[in-house]
Parts: sequence; structure tokens; C-alpha cells
Amino acid sequence: MAPDAKQTVFWRVDKNCPDPEVIRQAGHILRRGGLVAFPTETVYGLGANALDGRAVESIFTAKGRPRDNPLIVHIADTGMVYRYTRSVPERALLLMRRFWPGPLTLVLPGNGRIPREVSAGLDSLAFRMPDHPVALALIREAGVPLAAPSANLSGRPSPTTARHVYSDLNGRIDAILDGGPAGMGVESTVLDVTGDVPVVLRPGGVTPDQIRETAGAVVLDGSLSLAGPPPRRPRSPGMKYRHYAPAAPLVLVEGDGVRVVEEIKRLAADYARRGKKVGVLCRAGNRDKYAGVLAVPAGGACDHASVAAVLYDALRRFEGTGVDVILAEGVQPEGLGLAVANRLRRAAGRIIKVD
Ligand code: TXA
Ligand code: MG
Repeated sequence: MAPDAKQTVFWRVDKNCPDPEVIRQAGHILRRGGLVAFPTETVYGLGANALDGRAVESIFTAKGRPRDNPLIVHIADTGMVYRYTRSVPERALLLMRRFWPGPLTLVLPGNGRIPREVSAGLDSLAFRMPDHPVALALIREAGVPLAAPSANLSGRPSPTTARHVYSDLNGRIDAILDGGPAGMGVESTVLDVTGDVPVVLRPGGVTPDQIRETAGAVVLDGSLSLAGPPPRRPRSPGMKYRHYAPAAPLVLVEGDGVRVVEEIKRLAADYARRGKKVGVLCRAGNRDKYAGVLAVPAGGACDHASVAAVLYDALRRFEGTGVDVILAEGVQPEGLGLAVANRLRRAAGRIIKVD
């Protein structure tokens, strides 16, 4: 079927007390091979029965996602991990106990019982238990693990509201469960626990410090470093794609707060002189410093969680404004800021350092 030929049903659900009849119908759609978008505590996901290769295949079609980018398997109980893996190291078990349900995805050795469409041919599988009553109710009702990427068209910012999902995927999927805004706003941390030392493949809601407290040690994958070009084969295939690309080119300015504002004002004046329409993505408190440009506020300076929560929505808000360039204030890559800085860097066509 052409990806645009579906009638997408839109259901509003109470986050803490989803209507059992809606969950029953959504579970039914999943069991017969359909696609259902659902809220999680990070971003909205697009779910399919992970045991049904054809259903999983249709996720890639609906999103326009490259076939070599594997999907996370969403589960509602840890028993599901044991059913589909060769072995679960002690370290992984400790991490599950501390962080599940929550924004930590664990990459483990698969046992071949999940169709290869999910892992894009890799031997490993990524598992996550979302901390969201609607997501957990849906997985339980479906009775199967759900393969689920973020519910956006490939290459667009991840969806943090059901409206974002609708604008990207209406007509391409069977149903959307609207449980209100996703909480964190950035995706889960992807952690490879197949080796001796856990490796962060994608920074996210659980920070390296939190992982270290539980697992003893942790390292960041080389592709996350800013020094030098990214390795040709990152271990998380998704990281090689320039995700989160906003409509206009984004110039990221990183460094000391005061100098960042000065540099953005200088760049904005420069672009304006050349007849370009400028947008600025800034901390809420800095908005008034950028007179005469479209300044979209995204969170507070000292509060990474508030930036994460609105970042993708802010990037989408520049679409249709006709800006020729977006100048973005960087964030300190500490704690949750590491995930935010990573997403901004991957959205950026150019990064300027001012200290
Ligand atoms: O918060 C999240 O993780 C959201 C919600 C919906 O759960 N999901 C999400 O999925 O962000 P997606 O498909 O947009 O990103 C999954 C990431 C990709 O970078 C992919 O390459 C990586 O996880 N991944 C999946 N399976 C992997 C594996 N076996 N080994 C290494 N990386 C893997
Ligand atoms: Mg994604």
C-alpha cells in the first residue's frame, strides 16, 4: 500500500488513566500488523509488533527511514529481555533495576528470535522500558514487544506532541494516541552493554554520571567527540545520519554565555545586511537581547531539563517562518546538557566556538 493511503485514527487518552477500550483497539491494530504512535516519557514512538517482520518493515516505509538503522524494542517487563537475548550481564541487570522504567536503552546480544528487520541485520538488540502509563498499557495489551523509533518523518525533529506526529505521519500510519506532551523532550540514552565497559552510543535522559554510579565505569563512543571527524562506522548506525535537521541551516554558537550572545548579535547584523531573514534559538532570559530578529525562546540558562523539553518544538516553530538561517545558543555539555548539546550539534551545519 502507498504510505499515504491510510486512514489515521486520532485518540485522546488520559496519561495516567488511559481508556481501556482505546488501548484495546490500539492493541488489536498492533497484533494485526498495523502502526500505532504512542507517547513515552522522552518523545513519541511509532510502534509495530516486533515479532512481525512485515509490520516492522512498514515502519521504515512510513518514516522514510534508512533500512540500515535499527529500532529499539520496547518492553513492559524484564522477562521480555531474557526471552530475546543470548545473555544478560550482571551490569545490565543492575542498570535495569535502577533505571527501568525510564530513558535508558540497553544494547544486548540478541538470540535470533526477533526478526532481523528490527536490528537491521546486527547481532545485537536494543531494549527499553518506557516510563509512561500509556506506553506500558499499550505494550501489555498488545502482548508482544513493540519495535518503535521516534514517530517523525526521517530527518525531522523528533515529535514531542501528538500534533507533531500528526503533521509528519497523518495518512501513513493507523493510529495516534495523544497523551499530552512527552515529558523529557530528548530521546533515551543508548548504552551498549555487550562489552567489558558500557559505551554511551547516544546521550539522553540518563546521564553518564548516573550510569557510572551503578555500573562502575562508562565511556562515550568516539563519534560523540567534537575533536576530529566522526568515525566512518559509528557503533550506533543511527548516529551517522544528520537527524534533527531544521528547515533553515542552523549555526550553533558555543562557549561563554555573554560572548555567545555578542557573537550571535554580530552574525545576525551581518546576515541582515546581506538581506537574510534571521531566526535565533535562545534561552528565555536572552530573548530581549535580540531586537529585530525572530527569537524563539527555549528554556532557562541553568536548567537543561527545561531546554530539552521544548527544543524540538522550538526547531519546528521556525518552519514556515521564512527564516534563511537559524542562529542557536549552545548549552554546556554537562548532565542532561550533554544530550541537548549532541542534538544541537547534529542539527547544525556549522559550529562556532567563542572561548
Ligand atoms: O527515547 C527513545 O529512545 C525514543 C522513544 C520512542 O523510545 N526512540 C528513539 O528511537 O529515539 P530511534 O529509532 O529514533 O533511535 C534509536 C537509536 C538509533 O540511533 C539506532 O541506531 C540505535 O538506537 N540502535 C537501535 N538498535 C541498536 C543496536 N542494536 N545497536 C546499536 N544502536 C542501536
Ligand atoms: Mg529518531
